Formats: sequence, structure tokens, C-alpha cells
Amino acid sequence: MGMTRTPLIAGNWKMNLDHLQAVALVQKLHWSLKDAAHEFDSVDVTVFPPFTDLRSVQTLIDADKIPFGLGAQDLSVHDSGAYTGEISGEFLAKLSVGSVIIGHSERREYHAEDDAVVAAKTQAALKHGLVPVICVGETSEDLEKFGASAVPVGQLETALENVPDGAEIVVAYEPVWAIGSGQAATPEQAQDVCQKLREVIRAKLGDDAAASTRVLYGGSVKSGNIASFMREPDIDGALVGGGSLKVDEFSAIVRYGKHVGV
Ligand code: 13P
Repeated sequence: MGMTRTPLIAGNWKMNLDHLQAVALVQKLHWSLKDAAHEFDSVDVTVFPPFTDLRSVQTLIDADKIPFGLGAQDLSVHDSGAYTGEISGEFLAKLSVGSVIIGHSERREYHAEDDAVVAAKTQAALKHGLVPVICVGETSEDLEKFGASAVPVGQLETALENVPDGAEIVVAYEPVWAIGSGQAATPEQAQDVCQKLREVIRAKLGDDAAASTRVLYGGSVKSGNIASFMREPDIDGALVGGGSLKVDEFSAIVRYGKHVGV
């Protein structure tokens, strides 16, 4: 079919960096990539700062014409109303936010988000023109009981219910045991699950979606291991936590094509 997928390196800052630190990091990251003569068209870069940083980062990206995508880390299932503390997809879209992380394992664990909530948030994102970055992954207990792929496959099947054909989505496979542990999956393990996730996309949304949807790996991605993941045919990028908070490290991850992974 020959459809090519532009790789995506996504930085999930989690609850780190206030709006002043956010502006400094985005500016330095842009300079670092420019200094290294990075070809911005060859790899998409999206940052996912905390809500309170979004306006500042958006203003900077606009003013300096920085070719980064801007994403949010969560959104409400509702559009507006009496939902104290929630943030609507409508507000995010107004800030030129283009994508939103949904179903991160930290939301599933600390905010009791189940597959039904993840599916509802996916619908809310699409309704407001945001690309949902749907996160799936197994815990170490799941891994022992069911193997690596059963839980993420089931999570994605539920999230994609009622997603219309032609909708742009991103899928991120993040084994929970690999997040923040320094213990990344092997490229082979990650490829195996990402390939199965692509088959879920094919079954639910068709061949074109399977060919065009980016499937990311996340969990202890570093400049030293990114290239080995990117060599796998069904891994189209990375969702990076800790490694996205340091300019030099994230810049090196984005430029994975220029160095050989360990
Ligand atoms: P780390 O890169 O810190 O392991 O985090 C991964 C992650 O959860 C990204 O969403």
C-alpha cells in the first residue's frame, strides 16, 4: 500500500515544569534542533505540558514559528458545565492544542479511569478535532498472567468502539512495568505488541487506518535505546516521559536517525 508514516516523538512532561520553565525548555529544544540542522519535516515533535503551561507554550510556538505540535495530558468527557477541576476539549482546541493523551496508566491507576472512560474521552477528543493519543499497556501482574499483548489489545478494542473510519488517532503502547523504571521493553517485545495493536486498528478501522496510524512505544525511552525501537516496522515513534524533560536528551531522542542506539 506504500503509505508512509511520519515518525512522532512525543514528550509527556507529566506534572513537571511550570509555565516559565516550559517556555525555557521549548525555546532551548528548538535551538538545539536547529543547531544540529535537524530536518523538522522528517520527524514530528509534540510536547504535552501541564494545563497551566499550555497558553504560554502556544504563544511561544506561534510567535517564533516553532514547528512542534502542542498536546494536552488529559481532557474531560464533558463539553462544559458543573465539573469542578475538569478541562474541556473545546478549551484545548481554542488554544491550538492538536492532540491529547488519553488513558495513560497513571490516570488509570490514580484516577480510576477504566476502558469505558477512555472510550468516552476518545470520543470527546474527536468531537473537538483533537487527535487522541490512546495509551494502552499491561502491568507486570498482567504480563505474568496473560502475556504482553492480551491486556493492551483488549484496552484498544474498547477505546476504538464507535471511532469513525477516517478519524486520525495515535496509539501508544506503554507497558506499565517499563514506565519510569529504567527497564524498557526489548525492541522485539515492543514490536510484537505494536504489530498486534495495528491489527486491532485494521479490524476496527480498516486497512487505510492500519497503514496510516502511528503506533508509539513508551517506557524508559532514552537517547541510547530509541534507535533500536525505531528500526522495528510497527513502531512509529515514542512517548517519552523523563527523557523529555532534559533538552539535550530529548533533542538526541528526536535525532535518533543520526546516531546508533546502544
Ligand atoms: P518514562 O519515559 O519516564 O519511562 O515515562 C514513559 C511515559 O509514561 C510516557 O507517557
